[in-house]
Amino acid sequence: MAALLCSPNKLRRSVLLVGVALMLGMHLSAATMDKDIELIWGASHTYFFMDGETESLALSLDDQQGSCFRSKDMYLYGTISMEIKLVDGNSAGVVATAYTISEGPWSYHDEIDLEFLGNETGQPITLHTNIFVNGVGGREQQFYLPFDPAADYHTYTIEWNPKYILIKVDGKAIRAFKNYEEYGVAFPTWQQQRVYGSLWDADEWATQGGRVKTDWSEAPFVAYYRNYTFAWCQPSPGVSWCGAEPKDSARFDLDQRTLDDLRAASDQYMVYDYCSDHKRFNESEFPTECSLQRQGI
Ligand SMILES: *[C@@H]1O[C@H](CO)[C@@H](O)[C@H](O)[C@H]1NC(C)=O
Ligand SMILES: *[C@@H]1O[C@H](CO)[C@@H](O)[C@H](O)[C@H]1NC(C)=O
Ligand SMILES: *[C@@H]1O[C@H](CO)[C@@H](O)[C@H](O)[C@H]1NC(C)=O
Repeated sequence: MAALLCSPNKLRRSVLLVGVALMLGMHLSAATMDKDIELIWGASHTYFFMDGETESLALSLDDQQGSCFRSKDMYLYGTISMEIKLVDGNSAGVVATAYTISEGPWSYHDEIDLEFLGNETGQPITLHTNIFVNGVGGREQQFYLPFDPAADYHTYTIEWNPKYILIKVDGKAIRAFKNYEEYGVAFPTWQQQRVYGSLWDADEWATQGGRVKTDWSEAPFVAYYRNYTFAWCQPSPGVSWCGAEPKDSARFDLDQRTLDDLRAASDQYMVYDYCSDHKRFNESEFPTECSLQRQGI
C-alpha cells in the first residue's frame, strides 16, 4: 500500500531538483540527514531545517500533493531508526509512513511497513504494520501508541536480521516476525531494501475504514522526521557478514526484555492481529506462521 505513494508517476523532477538545491544550500555544513536521504516528490513544500542541533525534515501534505523521501542506499539486513513527530490535531485521512521496500518486480517484492493512520480527534493514532515477502503481504498488525505521537518525537525502528524482523517503538519491541523458512513460510533473505518515509492522503481507507475524510481546511498537514540512522547487521567473530551467519545462531535470539516488551505490546496496545482474525480466516486457513507462533515455535 505504502509503496504506491512513491510511484514514479508522482515524481516532479524539476521541482525536486530545485528543492534539493535549496535545501543543500541552506545547510551545507550541518550534521546531516540529507547526505543519507533524498526527496522523491513533494520537494516544493518539503524542507530540512535545524531544530536546535538536529537537522529535521518537514514533510507536508496539501490538497495538491504529499511528500516522500527515500534513502540513497539499499540494505540487506540491518537496523533502521528514525524519530518522527506526527501531524497533530485532526489528522483524519492522513497517513505518515516509514517503510522499507525492495526494487524490481512487484510480483515478488519484499516490504516492511509502518503506517500511522490519522484520527479525527487527534488521538489515538493507529500504527499499522505489515510485512510483504515475495509479493505477498496480508500480515497486518495494528497498535495504539501509549503516548501522543504528535506531541513529540519518538523513535521507530526496523531491525532486520536473518532470523527476525523486529519493529520497535522507543527501543521497545512491539512486533516480531520470525524466519520460518524451514516450515515453508517465506522470509526476506536476498533482496536489498530501500528506506522510505512519506506523508499522503489516504482518506479512502485510512480512518474508520474511509468513513472519515481529510478536512482540507486543516491543510497543510506536516510531519517531522529526524535522526535517520542505519546500522548494518553486526557479524559475530569469524563471520564477515550477518547474512552469512546461520539464522539459528544464538546471537539472533530474543532476550528476556524483548520477549517481555512483545508480550506487553500484544496485551496492552495491539488492536488488530491478522493471526487472530477469525472473520478473515477459518481455523484451518490461518497463515502457517500464525499456528507456529501459537505453538511457541
Ligand atoms: C480515534 O480516536 C477515538 C478516540 O478519541 C477512537 O475511539 C477511535 O477508534 C480512533 N480511530 C482510529 C481509526 O484509530
Ligand atoms: C539518534 O538515533 C540513535 C538510534 O536510535 C540514538 O542512539 C541516538 O541517541 C540518536 N541521536 C540523537 C541526537 O538523538
Ligand atoms: C469457512 O468455512 C465455511 C464452511 O466450510 C465456509 O462456508 C466459509 O466460506 C469459510 N470462510 C472463509 C473466510 O474462508
